[in-house]
Order: sequence, then C-alpha cells, then structure tokens
Amino acid sequence: MNPDEAGTVFTTPAAYADDASFHQACAVLRREDPVHLVSQDPLFAPFWAITKHADIMEIEAKPNLFTNAPFPVLGNIESQDHARAQGDMLRTLIHMDDPDHRVIREVTAEWFLPRNLEKLQSRLAGLAATTVDGMFDLGGRCDFARDVAMNFPLSVINGILGLPESDFGRMLMLTQELFGSADPEMQRGTTMEDLQKVIMEFFVYFGELTAARRATPTDDLASVIANATIDGRLLNDLELISYYVIIATAGHDTTSSAIAGGLQALIEHPDQLQRLRDEPGLIPKAVDEMIRWTTPVKHFMRTAQEDYVLRGRSIAKGDWLLLSYPSGNRDEDVFTDPFTFDAGRSPNKHLAFGFGVHFCLGAMLARMEMKALFAELIPRLDDIALAGEPALMQTLFVGGHKRLPIQYSMHR
Ligand code: HEM
Repeated sequence: MNPDEAGTVFTTPAAYADDASFHQACAVLRREDPVHLVSQDPLFAPFWAITKHADIMEIEAKPNLFTNAPFPVLGNIESQDHARAQGDMLRTLIHMDDPDHRVIREVTAEWFLPRNLEKLQSRLAGLAATTVDGMFDLGGRCDFARDVAMNFPLSVINGILGLPESDFGRMLMLTQELFGSADPEMQRGTTMEDLQKVIMEFFVYFGELTAARRATPTDDLASVIANATIDGRLLNDLELISYYVIIATAGHDTTSSAIAGGLQALIEHPDQLQRLRDEPGLIPKAVDEMIRWTTPVKHFMRTAQEDYVLRGRSIAKGDWLLLSYPSGNRDEDVFTDPFTFDAGRSPNKHLAFGFGVHFCLGAMLARMEMKALFAELIPRLDDIALAGEPALMQTLFVGGHKRLPIQYSMHR
C-alpha cells in the first residue's frame, strides 16, 4: 500500500469499520509520509493528514495559528457549501476559537472540575451496579454494545443534565442519528434535510428544558447552562442548544465505544482480564489503555491561519489539517509495543481526549464512568467469550462497536 492509497481511509466511512486495515494504512503514513496531502477524493476538499503524535500536539498547542473554525470536522464539499450558504446550524465549543471559546467553556468548566465530579462518585457506582445487574438478568448472552455499553453513558449524561428516564430512548436515537450518520444502519436518511430534522428535534426538546430550568432551577447541569450569563445576559437560543447538544452527544457515543471496545480487548487478551481480577488497583490504568486502544474520536480538523512548516512540509495559510488521533495513539516513537493491549500501561500519553485548549471537557467524567463500570463488572465475571462477529460503525468522526455479541457466566 502506498501513502496515496493509505490516505483514502480518512474519507471512507467503511475503512474505520475495519480496524486492522485502518491501522495498517496509518502505519504506512507514519513511516512514509506522516504529513500527507489527501487530495484524490473529488467529494472532499484537500487536507493534510497528520498521523504522528508529536505533530498532532504541535498543532494543538498553537490554537491561534491552527483554528477549529470554519470546519472542525471532516465533511464533504456539499456539506461545506451548504453550511456557507445557510450559516451554522449549531455553534458548539468545537466550532469556536478564542476569545468566544474561552468564555463559553467557562460556563461549565467549574462543573466538570474534579472536586465537583467527586460528588457523582456514589451515583456512578449505583448506576454501574444497576447496569451490571441488568447484564446478569440477560442470562449469559447479550449484544454488549447495544444492551450495555450504549445505555450506561447515556444514563449518566441524561442524569447529569437532569432529563427524565422516559426520554432516554429518544435521546439515544437522536445522538446516534447525529453522530452515526455515515452508517446506513443508523442514519435516518442521507440528505442534509434529514440531518436538519434531527437537529430541529434537539431544538424543540432542549428549548422546553431551558424554559423549565429557568422557571425552577435545580442542581443539574441543564440548570447551570440555562441560567448562565455572559456579560450580564443569558445565553441565546443558538448558544443554549449548541451547549446541550455538545454535552449530550460528546459524552455519549464516545464513552460507549470505549467501553465496548475495552471489553472486546479484555476478551481477546484473557491474561489482561486475569491481571485485573488479581489486581483491581490497575483498573484506572486499564481504562486509559482501553481509551487509547479504541480512540473513539477519529479526528478533528484545524485550519492554518498562517504559512507553517511541519516536518519539512509547507502548509499554506488556509490549508485544512486532519489530526488522526487513532494514528497518534499507535505511534511507535511514543508507545512501547503500540499494538499490544497492556492493561497496566504506564506512562500512557495517549491523545484520545485531544490536547490543549479544546482538551475534552468530559475526560475526567468519562474515566470515572468507565472505572465504575469495570470495577463492578470484572469481579462478577466468571467467564466470558465472543458469541459472534463484532461489528464497528462506519463513520468518519466518532465511532466504535455497533455489535458485540458475547456469552458469559457471572454472579450477583
Ligand atoms: C472516552 C470518552 C471520550 C472521548 C474519547 C472524548 C474525546 C474528545 C476529543 C478528542 C475532544 C476534542 C479535543 C481537542 O480538540 O483537542 C473532545 C472534546 C470535548 N468533549 Fe470529549 N470525549 C469523551 C467523553 C466526553 C464526555 C463524557 C463529555 C461530557 C459529558 C465530553 C465532552 C466534551 C466537550 C464538551 C468537548 C469540547 C471541548 C472544547 O472544544 O473545548 N466528552 N472530547
């Protein structure tokens, strides 16, 4: 495979569903052309694929030089033309740069600080126990991706936003339609209008939530967002909806992908599962290794605001760059045996949560959720094996398992 062939993986949703060949392509790029111009696909504007860990960090460390605006996520030319003509349907933290980004991030930054999240510890442990009980009740066979991994982070997010349990199913569908929209099994339709309909449903739903929390504030995250002020004014409709959508979506499919992929890694590496049974104190390290291993966020894009030379390549002002987190997380120059799943890996300087001013706001929460779930699950599992072929989502952005059939024996 030459670098031009390898570079096609970034514009091919099905390529992300074949983990081994995806990583093979990235290894070719890291070795032969780590700053590689992808320009063959007529559907997409050209972009530089950045595949080395050090280069991703270098770019993320310069947010004024490499901005998230105007297009932080890889979309085809049609979707870009649409956005230019119609304006942004949403403007979330990932669409922003400073100074707006800093101001909007501050609205919830404190809520996501460890000292506040600590308060959730017992609630997470309770939710984890209920989730694992549910798995026990399924009687030794389930699709772990659908039956367990997708529901647990959704319950957490919906819980912190303060949504009623009766709305969980609706939220699950909407977030999957928004994020999994490159996979034929998950998308509502294929047109921009279909996507707009999904976003409109978010608008209606969260508009009602804002009104309720302004009338009667509670201690949930929705109340923080609904009642926040910037320069003495409440957030406007677009700011509000964008905030809810980024929290609801960013905190959901990402974590469920890491959970399902993490479990598959333990099934395929029974020595590592046994290691965690013997030494539960390693679970926090194992969680980070699961996140590195799966890297559920496949990329973010940046736009160069000045000419820049990276690894000898001339990036021109206005060029678009794709930061490939899965590739950075298998970089041979940073990780010892990067293709080995090592539940006790230390250090583990993975980039799955990004780096710099946009570093994942929910990283601590995601880690807490996963620790709570695996700390509950691992000691109760007597035996576990695959019961069919796992399947990954087709995606260009966020993804992981859509199916993980397993059989297991466990105790209460
Ligand atoms: C394993 C789970 C998760 C992964 C892999 C992940 C990954 C990421 C990545 C790669 C970024 C962009 C970082 C950058 O540009 O440098 C990001 C941003 C973000 N994440 Fe996460 N995330 C996860 C879970 C969560 C959770 C649980 C929440 C919240 C409840 C969350 C909320 C956010 C938000 C709000 C941003 C935007 C931050 C900004 O632009 O300032 N994420 N995440």
